[in-house]
Amino acid sequence: MPVYTIRHSPALHGEAQINTSKNAVLPILAAALLCSSPVTIHRAPRLTDVDHMLRVLTDCGARIGRQDRDITIYPAALRQPREPQNLHSLRASILVLGPLCVRLGEAIVPLPGGCAIGQRPVDIHLNGLRAMGAETEQADNCAVARGRLRGANIYLDFPSVGATENLLMAAALADGVTRIENAAKEPEIVDLADFLNLAGAHIVGAGTGTLVIEGVSRLSGVEYTPIADRIEAGTLACAAAITKGSMLLCGVHGEHLRALLFKLREMGLLVQEDARGLCLRGQVRHGADIRTLSYPGFPTDLQAPMMTVACAARGRSVFLETIFENRYMHAISLCRMGADIRTEGRMAVVEGGRPLSGAVVEATDLRAGAALMLAGLIAQGETTLLDEPGHICRGYEGLDEKLRALGADVTIAPLH
Ligand code: UD1
Repeated sequence: MPVYTIRHSPALHGEAQINTSKNAVLPILAAALLCSSPVTIHRAPRLTDVDHMLRVLTDCGARIGRQDRDITIYPAALRQPREPQNLHSLRASILVLGPLCVRLGEAIVPLPGGCAIGQRPVDIHLNGLRAMGAETEQADNCAVARGRLRGANIYLDFPSVGATENLLMAAALADGVTRIENAAKEPEIVDLADFLNLAGAHIVGAGTGTLVIEGVSRLSGVEYTPIADRIEAGTLACAAAITKGSMLLCGVHGEHLRALLFKLREMGLLVQEDARGLCLRGQVRHGADIRTLSYPGFPTDLQAPMMTVACAARGRSVFLETIFENRYMHAISLCRMGADIRTEGRMAVVEGGRPLSGAVVEATDLRAGAALMLAGLIAQGETTLLDEPGHICRGYEGLDEKLRALGADVTIAPLH
């Protein structure tokens, strides 16, 4: 189990290069199953979620080659996955449902189940595949979709990121035209559509609420470099904000972080964008109200790091988490460190400016872990962050290392 020791740190200064996005890479890996020749993903981040997804692809019959950060997927001899434990433990494994169904005429995919932040059902994925002509069911802890897929008009009850991705992939090889209304607009959807179009798909409308996909009979393998990770960049921006540092984040697209940057500016931080990247300076002075929403609203994945920022700012911040039902577990740990946070249901009220002090706290999920690592930077004394299942390295490549390079006092050691 990794244990991080974080001590009160000076203002963070310097440059950080942002990795390619976990949430873009995972669906693109699943989409490689649609291609009839090898796909190479360049600059893939070193994350345990990526390793996990590669195990899922291997279990689906693909062969994998790795050279440094480049991953090549040879999608031959596809079959149904046989090792449910691979799929149960990675939420994104549900993304092989659409590709397997459209390529094999059947997909039987073990369900990942709920997780610490909420139930995370897959009804929207299955409803969409049903509209495309599949027979679907949830049985024996598996999602099942069978049948030849054809184009359809689909309306999503909620702009689910995963469901939009699954249906986009299935529609790329289905017979006829599919129209997905109320689709997710996240940058990772645009990246997946760009990847698929490069491979020969006909998709228009990515990044808007309406996707139109004209199915093609074949997609060929391509080489692709996914977009930068807006959540990693946003987390580092929050670290700059709380330590009164000055930081240049390179490689990130500022337009993917509009909501966060707007809020950080509102709180008093100086934010500049130029050709080199995103430059953050100054300090947060007052609280802000944060409502998580689908893109382009404030991302739920930055709600936890932003709560640490709210603790550092003076005055009240009110959070409303509208995407996941149970995503305030970090608040308990922040309170243990001296923060004043009251949560009720989907709302949290932070009275900022209270001094934090080091404590032993636990990373209950990926983003909660990052939020607590940041809190340790401004807490007096020493914070011990226990990360038993290794949540943080699921989604951040060497977050401790990146913070250290900027001047933070963070060390990691395995606890036996
Ligand atoms: C993706 C991201 C995750 C991010 C989330 C929301 C990846 C690998 N993960 O997760 O980091 O926090 O988007 O931006 O890209 N829902 C249903 N039925 C469904 C599908 C979803 O009710 O069939 C609900 C979920 O329970 C949740 C909400 O919709 O409350 C959002 O989920 P969704 O957008 O699907 O998130 P993921 O794709 O799982």
